[in-house]
Amino acid sequence: MSRKILLEHADVPGIDTFPIYRQHGGYDSVEKAVKMDPMAIVEEVKTSGLRGRGGAGFSTGIKWSFLDRKSNNPRYLVCNADEGEPGTFKDRYFMEKLPHLLVEGLIVSSFALGTHTAYVYVRGEFFWIIEALEVAIAEAKAAGFLGKNILGSGFDLEIYVHPGAGAYICGEESALLESLEGKKGYPRIKPPFPAISGLFGCPTVINNVETIAAVPWIIVNGGPAYAAIGIGRSTGTKLISASGNIKKPGVYEIDMGITVEEFVMSDEFCGGLLEGRTLKAIIAGGSSVPILPAHLAFKTAAGEPRLMTYESLFDGGFASGTMMGSGGFIVLDNTACIVRNTWNFSRFYHHESCGQCSPCREGTGWLEKVLHRLEHGEGKMHDIDLLVSISKKIEGHTICALGDAAAWPVVSAVLHFREEFESHVKNRGCL
Ligand SMILES: Cc1cc2nc3c(=O)[nH]c(=O)nc-3n(C[C@H](O)[C@H](O)[C@H](O)COP(=O)(O)O)c2cc1C
Ligand code: SF4
Repeated sequence: MSRKILLEHADVPGIDTFPIYRQHGGYDSVEKAVKMDPMAIVEEVKTSGLRGRGGAGFSTGIKWSFLDRKSNNPRYLVCNADEGEPGTFKDRYFMEKLPHLLVEGLIVSSFALGTHTAYVYVRGEFFWIIEALEVAIAEAKAAGFLGKNILGSGFDLEIYVHPGAGAYICGEESALLESLEGKKGYPRIKPPFPAISGLFGCPTVINNVETIAAVPWIIVNGGPAYAAIGIGRSTGTKLISASGNIKKPGVYEIDMGITVEEFVMSDEFCGGLLEGRTLKAIIAGGSSVPILPAHLAFKTAAGEPRLMTYESLFDGGFASGTMMGSGGFIVLDNTACIVRNTWNFSRFYHHESCGQCSPCREGTGWLEKVLHRLEHGEGKMHDIDLLVSISKKIEGHTICALGDAAAWPVVSAVLHFREEFESHVKNRGCL
């Protein structure tokens, strides 16, 4: 049985209102944090082993310690609530249920970082969440947890909610900053990294919703308690949005380190496959991670149980592993067509490429075109290797990771399901 840190009170009626949230221990971490040394909070987060939940899994405490505190410029905290990755819907679910927990996390994190302005960049389509966050912010402010001189500590903080305008690329942190500055969402060349030169050229920390929401529990219960959950460098709990051919799609909070098999097959989580179906593949971390065929889903290539950790999912690297990514877990059974699925993802990446770099701008279009003809029975055998060749020319040759995200699913689909691509050529489409 996995414990609940983030979703413990998610189903309490009225938990999205200040009084009920407060009755359930809400904002206790702010009371504790404002009496602490900000650097002690950073240390606590380091000790917890918390890693960024937006996709890359970088240590949050280390990221926070990179923030340029010597600069005379203001510092900013930016929460990434853009969540546009196909298959990923955990932040949306979380913010709908617990807007106050995100606000609480923003206050404690801002205090630790010495920022007096925090932004939440929310996917614009989530208009009801924007409203819920605005209400939560106003309620917290009226209760003295936000605004000037929070709880008499002398610390001031304002939180602003900024809606995005429907571009997936604005979830990439530097494109997000451009967009927040009122410009077109073009990713920036790094370095400099945001910790040195971020929003308006000032030191900035950017964290995912789930990352920031984990901070209150860490401050109330201590970094070691968080680190005690999970395995190795994958500590704490993780929100996973599960979809595809399973009995119980939804958002689940898991202890890091449960097996993939338990996650897919147990009634506590996905509830197993639909009757009479067999597992074909899993996509463990959103549309941008390599696809894993059934024989590598529950076990690694070395025959070890595959675990829901950053390390175990990556076991085998790009040859026989995948990534935790954003926790968008998609299950495909024997009725799913890998070529169609890969084509569908490629359409998305082509559409969402910002067009700044030619390998991504042109390459994503070529991938879509070649996959379209394979899926529609017009492909040739050499198209299969062409897909790999195009992908290899995109991967690692672009300004941001959208290019990689477009390439990895294609390369892994061909690697693990070549016979299905060949069958599309021989049989002029899907059987
Ligand atoms: C194309 C692209 C889209 C991204 N979309 C998101 C997103 O919607 N939400 C998010 O938190 N991170 C997203 N990221 C990752 C962010 O760039 C960044 O790593 C993350 O917000 C950092 O927060 P974390 O350290 O808490 O994970 C995206 C990255 C790329 C390359
Ligand atoms: S990789 Fe693609 S999305 Fe990223 S900057 Fe280049 S063209 Fe834009």
